[in-house]
Amino acid sequence: MAHGSSAVEYRNPAVRWIDRRLPIFSMMHREYGEFPTPRNFNYLWNFGALAMFFLVLMIATGVMLAMHYTPSTDQAFASVERIMRDVNGGWLLRYLHMNGASFFFIVVYIHMFRGLYYGSYKAPRELLWMLGVVIFLLMMATAFMGYVLPWGQMSYWGATVITNLFSTIPWVGDAIVTWLWGGFSVDNPTLNRFFSLHFLLPFVILGVVVLHIAALHVTGSNNPTGIEPKGPQDTLPFHPYYTMKDTFGLAVCLILFSIMVFFAPNFMGHPDNYIPANPLVTPSHIVPEWYFLPFYAILRAVTFNFLFIPAELGGVILMFGSIIVLFFVSWLDTSKVRSAKYRPVYKWFFWLFVIDVLVLGYMGSQPAEGINVLIAQLATLYYFLHFLVVLPLLGKFERPKPLPRSIAEAVLPRGRSAAGMAAAPAE
Ligand code: HEM
Repeated sequence: MAHGSSAVEYRNPAVRWIDRRLPIFSMMHREYGEFPTPRNFNYLWNFGALAMFFLVLMIATGVMLAMHYTPSTDQAFASVERIMRDVNGGWLLRYLHMNGASFFFIVVYIHMFRGLYYGSYKAPRELLWMLGVVIFLLMMATAFMGYVLPWGQMSYWGATVITNLFSTIPWVGDAIVTWLWGGFSVDNPTLNRFFSLHFLLPFVILGVVVLHIAALHVTGSNNPTGIEPKGPQDTLPFHPYYTMKDTFGLAVCLILFSIMVFFAPNFMGHPDNYIPANPLVTPSHIVPEWYFLPFYAILRAVTFNFLFIPAELGGVILMFGSIIVLFFVSWLDTSKVRSAKYRPVYKWFFWLFVIDVLVLGYMGSQPAEGINVLIAQLATLYYFLHFLVVLPLLGKFERPKPLPRSIAEAVLPRGRSAAGMAAAPAE
């Protein structure tokens, strides 16, 4: 073969003809066929593939919804109702898209926490992780703008609250907000540009995902031991082992997804968004979608001015800071050991961090009054302490458990080599 490192000679003449000129088949074979993958993945390694599935589903259903949706303030709400009632299969498209967004976030959150637990952000995978954080930011922007499109009460007021955050920026804040709105309030120009960007951004995400996977295929995957594979005894070809495992994981996920879509399609939504937007009536509690709640809690946790920073600006800084800090986690964590499996103290702090994020999420859903404010403040404090104090110090003081010499040693029964396992008869 003229191109590519693997010597694949395709029997199908059309495939052979194309591959000689544009080696996409041999590239797929190299990257998804024989690609050496650690043999010890657990099911948490399914979530990248699941995220990919939901990204494709969101784009496919979104493009079809856009064929029937009207981005104007006097028709948007009605056009969504028309999709639900009159368009053939429209209800299914919309419920797949609505619940798909929630599942996309569930899957990506698990994917991120997996990375934090097993230290997948550590060298040499720093850039892979940072591209992930970029994807996460883009997902949040896309979901926020998508939620505005049905032009219900939560759409309108959510958009008003969040865009107004920019008004806290000193001197230029108000000008920025007017520029974002395209006028003097959230209105038709705002809805139009949000629709345009909501259509565009998923394709940008797709582009960054391509870079994410490309970076992954340079370093190879991390694995539950956090030890790099040392030879063929530590790896399996991606196909059929992980194509099958990913397919099984997808099947289980689709069962859960179908239960939501067909039996509880509005469970994760807010009933107020079935009331058309009304600029003259403010809902009693303005809450974002569930996946933004921890960040919303951080935003509202700052109730006091700090030095020359007013409370509102402080909240905005901390909210953005809570995501920005993720960019630096590869350097904040000073431990030489990757996986929490061999880090007895980090393991506890990891779970404390998970609980902390759940507490923040719950607080984000509650009115910011009484004891809730204090709890949200403490949880916000711990969120930052975890990254800025616990991770740097723990690496210095924690005594890790002894690491196995290789993946094969960690996962194979004592006294049986990888070669011996392969030669053993099937039981
Ligand atoms: C559209 C969203 C995303 C897609 C489609 C995606 C896709 C993938 C895929 C297919 C893998 C390899 C399989 C796996 O390890 O599960 C992967 C690995 C990885 N992803 Fe993502 N990802 C997304 C978002 C993110 C985010 C938000 C982060 C972190 C902020 C992230 C961090 C990582 C890391 C560190 C790895 C390497 C994991 C390891 O080898 O242990 N990804 N991603």
